[in-house]
Amino acid sequence: MVSLTELTGRALADISASADIARLEEARVHWLGKKGLITEQLKSLGAMPAEQRKEAGARINEAKEAVQAAIDARRTVLEAEEISRKLAQGRIDITLDGRGEVPGGLHPVTRARLRIERLFREVGFEVAEGPEIEDDFHNFSALNVPANHPARAMHDTFYLEHEVEGERALLRTHTSPVQIRALRAARDNLPLAVIAPGRVYRMDSDATHTPMFHQVEGLLVDEGVSFANLKAILHGFMEAFFERDLSMRLRPSYFPFTEPSAEVDITCVACGGSGCRLCKHTGWIEVLGCGMVHPNVLTACEVDSERYTAYAFGMGIDRLAMLRYGVTDLRLFFENDLRFLRQFRGGWS
Ligand code: DAH
Repeated sequence: MVSLTELTGRALADISASADIARLEEARVHWLGKKGLITEQLKSLGAMPAEQRKEAGARINEAKEAVQAAIDARRTVLEAEEISRKLAQGRIDITLDGRGEVPGGLHPVTRARLRIERLFREVGFEVAEGPEIEDDFHNFSALNVPANHPARAMHDTFYLEHEVEGERALLRTHTSPVQIRALRAARDNLPLAVIAPGRVYRMDSDATHTPMFHQVEGLLVDEGVSFANLKAILHGFMEAFFERDLSMRLRPSYFPFTEPSAEVDITCVACGGSGCRLCKHTGWIEVLGCGMVHPNVLTACEVDSERYTAYAFGMGIDRLAMLRYGVTDLRLFFENDLRFLRQFRGGWS
């Protein structure tokens, strides 16, 4: 009987003597095919005593791998030779256009979200997530919006038919409930700095509103956090996001979960403040809502509101994406027209 070493040697010689791909394929079948000579060796294992079987099996597999590696190497050489031959015979037209690969791209809203995440990570925020199916407690009550409070009318909520832990289930109307989840999880481990991007839902649909849109929530809790800290982080973020110097102004506003609350405007990114259609000739565009977290919210999360203060903010990612990329109709983000999306191919920010 021929030894395995002998057999492997013959196989390797056969492979290097194969002069073309067809011949190489024959050699592969001869040695490694289903009934190949090396494959057959494995069948002999069954007849061996158990203690020899393992070692013999390993040796046969090594031989198979060596022969397979030789086949692969030989194939690479033969293929290269074939291309040279065709080139020499003028059978390959190197003046033809390449077929190339068509690179994909990220959706502009995804690009804006990743950009926002990166900028906040750079200054020490973590990225948190929460469920899109929320309950009344997290979406409203814990955020200081009690039952039947008129502030609920600000959000046209999609309610679901079931309950979650005795609370009415709903599609979250904002990312603010993630504040509650993050606060409760970290209450014994403060300080905390998180942003929470994600989808939100409201019964609203026209040229500037879609029933699903994207927000990012921000929350920073520590001892001695002030409104000045909030203003500084937001101004820094806006200038970094839009890559330009911007003025920012705060207008007093009302949110149940913050006190004081403000709406934030920045210099119109389309006209630089001189007035245009986008900013309705005011020179300013509104970009977000923010404020100092209401003590009731901290208390609902069992955080000592005497010791800790916090700021929070919430902004629309779709809107920021529109402003950054100069998109004038929100619906373009949802229609998935490739002529639109292709403009965002490649690149990251
Ligand atoms: N949740 C608000 C909305 O959906 C946005 C918002 C405003 C979030 C002020 C905040 C905040 O955290 O402090 O319109």
